[in-house]
Amino acid sequence: MFNPIEWIRSSIRRKAIVGLLVILLSAIFLTGLSIVSQAKKFIILEAQRRASSVAQFVGNNLGATVASYNDSARIKLIMDGICADSSILYATFFDEKGTIIASSCSKGQGQGSGSLPLSELYNLSDEGNRFHLYGNVLEVYRHVILKNGAEKPFLLLGLDVSEVQAVTSKITRLIAINAFIVYIIGLLVLIVAVNRFAEPLETLTDGIRDVGEGRTPQPVVVQGQDEVASLTIAFNKMITDLERSREEVQSYQEHLEGMVQDRTDALNRANSELVEINVTLKSANEKLLELDKLKSNFLGIATHELKTPLAVVEGYLDSLKDGFAGELSGTQLGVVNETLLSCGRMADLISDMLDLTKIEAGKMPIEKRTVSVIRPVEKVAGQMVPLLQKKNLTLEIADGNMGVKAVFDEDRIVQVLVNLIGNAVKFTPGGGTITVHAEIHSDAKPPTVAISVSDTGIGISSDDLHHVFEEFAQVGPPGKEEGTGLGLAICRRIVVAHGGEIWVESKLSQGSTFTFTIPLG
Ligand SMILES: Nc1ncnc2c1ncn2[C@@H]1O[C@H](COP(=O)(O)OP(=O)(O)O)[C@@H](O)[C@H]1O
Ligand SMILES: [Mg+2]
Repeated sequence: MFNPIEWIRSSIRRKAIVGLLVILLSAIFLTGLSIVSQAKKFIILEAQRRASSVAQFVGNNLGATVASYNDSARIKLIMDGICADSSILYATFFDEKGTIIASSCSKGQGQGSGSLPLSELYNLSDEGNRFHLYGNVLEVYRHVILKNGAEKPFLLLGLDVSEVQAVTSKITRLIAINAFIVYIIGLLVLIVAVNRFAEPLETLTDGIRDVGEGRTPQPVVVQGQDEVASLTIAFNKMITDLERSREEVQSYQEHLEGMVQDRTDALNRANSELVEINVTLKSANEKLLELDKLKSNFLGIATHELKTPLAVVEGYLDSLKDGFAGELSGTQLGVVNETLLSCGRMADLISDMLDLTKIEAGKMPIEKRTVSVIRPVEKVAGQMVPLLQKKNLTLEIADGNMGVKAVFDEDRIVQVLVNLIGNAVKFTPGGGTITVHAEIHSDAKPPTVAISVSDTGIGISSDDLHHVFEEFAQVGPPGKEEGTGLGLAICRRIVVAHGGEIWVESKLSQGSTFTFTIPLG
């Protein structure tokens, strides 16, 4: 529903117009009222002055010529003479008790004596007049002192003041018309003034709305030097600044886009180079794989083919040693023994190479079963006894978790342990200790058992540690016990084939610890 109060409140223009209109109307009304009342007062005063001079004249005349109330002929004459004045409507002459002694004219509706209580009239001084207004009639009361001075009668004159009233209403009408004209002019001036005030504000509001909605507003024309003008200047500065920052942001954005484009181009170039490299690498890799396969095949065939003649050579050497070709001299026996030793090393190398090629070709079967860890450990420990005794070494098997079951191929884990314990024996000087230890890693996924072989041997330098699991890696100072350098490489492959890991911790001259994990059963 339309609410006029809300309608006025919702616009500064309406508020200003209504507020100023109220002020304007009140000012015009009050000014008109005071002018009318002042004019009326002035006109009445004029009428009273006239009435007073007539009353004074008649009163003096009566006082000077009439000796007593009995002198009625004179009284009548004077009273009738009064009526010659057309503005006098009636005249009454009455004594101090209010009794009418004479009256005349009676042109209008006279009130006569008694229209005012006598008690009020007694307070009049001898020369004083008393006025009383009844509609269009102004009454004047006055004491008359007769010649002998004994009686003190009253004279009442009724004066027609209808002209006065007419003038008053004419003035009122004039003022009302003038007030209306002033009001209309005021209204027009007011609307123009308020518009002049409100217009820049509205333009500013539109501009601010444009800014809020992301449009570029036009600068507002500055009018005058008032607060609104200051506001407009500030607003214009704000939109100029805003436009400048918008341009800066835009140019920065363009710059950024350019940079992004450059980077994208560079990336695309790098990407296509990478694709090319990838293709080259892929084909190189394929070639490498092919070569590797060839190498494995070659090694497999070669080592296999080497085994048979080597066995024949070993057989003949053994026969020679046993005197098949007659008794051998000491030197001959020495040569045969050395040759046999080399044949043994060669047989080891061939068997290691065969293992390696088999594993690489996926031809070494891993038959996993759930077995207690202690079984392969004890088996290897048994095999090692002569070697340990020979070098005066102690092998300790830590009880701890040795009884735990894991999933593995016993023969292959035996092979791993033979190499690790064999290495420990090889690289630990006499009197040392080798310890085999098992630890459960239940947090690992899947849970595993870690089997470690520690020794108090020569250790491995930190530079060499990374290489020990490589094929043919024989690190450290030369002149150590001989071997193929393939043992640890085979161990790593076997452990990985079980889903485990193998690593080494060692410090030169402080011993080594080789650890491998296999999944728990
Ligand atoms: N327990 C150990 N102490 C010190 N060095 C070791 C130990 N085990 C292995 N190595 C080093 O790692 C090399 C590689 O070992 P391995 O692969 O078993 O070959 P090999 O035993 O035939 O030499 C060894 O030649 C040796 O230099
Ligand atoms: Mg070895």
